[in-house]
Amino acid sequence: MIIGIPKEIKNNESRVGMTPAGVLELTKLGHKVLIQSTAGDSSGFDDEDYHAAGATVLPTIDRIYAQSDMIVKVKEPIELEYRLIKEGQIIFTYFHFASNQGLTEAMMKSKSICIAYETVQLSDGTLPLLTPMSEVAGRMAIQQGAKYLEKPVKGKGLLLGGVPGVPPGKVLILGAGTVGIQAAKMAAGLGAQVTVLDVNMNRLRYVNDIMPSHVVTEFSNEYNIRKHIKTSDLIIGGILITGAKAPKLITSDMLKQMQPGTVIVDVAVDQGGCVETTRPTTHEEPAYIIDDVVHYCVANMPGAVPHTSTVALTNVTLPYVLQLAEKGWEQACQDDDALAKGVNIVDGKVTFEPILEAFDWNKSFA
Ligand SMILES: NC(=O)c1ccc[n+]([C@@H]2O[C@H](COP(=O)([O-])OP(=O)(O)OC[C@H]3O[C@@H](n4cnc5c(N)ncnc54)[C@H](O)[C@@H]3O)[C@@H](O)[C@H]2O)c1
Repeated sequence: MIIGIPKEIKNNESRVGMTPAGVLELTKLGHKVLIQSTAGDSSGFDDEDYHAAGATVLPTIDRIYAQSDMIVKVKEPIELEYRLIKEGQIIFTYFHFASNQGLTEAMMKSKSICIAYETVQLSDGTLPLLTPMSEVAGRMAIQQGAKYLEKPVKGKGLLLGGVPGVPPGKVLILGAGTVGIQAAKMAAGLGAQVTVLDVNMNRLRYVNDIMPSHVVTEFSNEYNIRKHIKTSDLIIGGILITGAKAPKLITSDMLKQMQPGTVIVDVAVDQGGCVETTRPTTHEEPAYIIDDVVHYCVANMPGAVPHTSTVALTNVTLPYVLQLAEKGWEQACQDDDALAKGVNIVDGKVTFEPILEAFDWNKSFA
């Protein structure tokens, strides 16, 4: 199969769909990989790295799309790319169709095979191609939170780990999922006093089993949240209710109960945020202040660390890319139920029910 890796052209996207390591695995099996020149630069991989792994470097995005049977990328195609996509071409990437009707209609029109990273789902319900980005965001939340606690950026002026003779900071983590556990691990590593809240007792049991004793768990409810926010230095929002907007666990009146310079990193901002005063920000201007509380609410946190994010993402996508290349999409999906769940649009038809529901389309229309 011929596999094409275009350069990402969506604003602020620096990741790339495949590392040279992935290229090598494909070329070893006899597949041809085409990569657009400079596509990997921001992730720390130059054209020579790809060439050495067996890829052919092409100068334009048009040639990548025109010559490939399968496109492997990171973000959904943007309008400039719509006209490049061919009938029958496999597009394997993050799509998030349910929030973008224009994209959905464009991909239906293209008659391509759209396989969405975010809906590839294992039998235990987990989403293996989303997990690494939550891992990155969870770890980054503490790194960013610690920085925003510094005085020049209007934080409390507090070193999260403390020093001998000065106690460490207090970190409150809402949600003990992937983001919450990675954040707890980083905060614990810095020596902070960490409290993790969740409504799922199994998650709390797990945290309690694996974390050191300065990470404590409590059930998530309004009473406990109100109790902890008064003394917390850094609050991390890592809530997810699948398919729904995040509940507002911290309401605007609660900000007045917090100490000035408290920092909130609302990682759940991409689902609307779990703090009432959250609004999405970008890496250019990541934080804002309301009632003396610093809010960091970047919706694509992994975008700031493209090297780590690219490698983490392609580690998990590569096994599926190899299956698709070796067997073709139909056989690969017959053999792998998780991959089959990723198929969203085939030959102009939406095959993933939640997209139909999102746009109120019935099946005959689709
Ligand atoms: N901003 C970014 O760049 C970025 C990157 C990755 C993920 N995210 C977002 O981070 C959020 C968390 O993702 P995840 O992968 O950790 O999800 P997850 O499903 O692994 O964990 C979510 C946790 O929230 C818990 N929860 C639900 N309701 C709760 C409540 N009322 N109180 C306390 N806990 C509650 C669940 O029990 C679960 O343990 C999601 O919204 C995700 O989209 C954002």
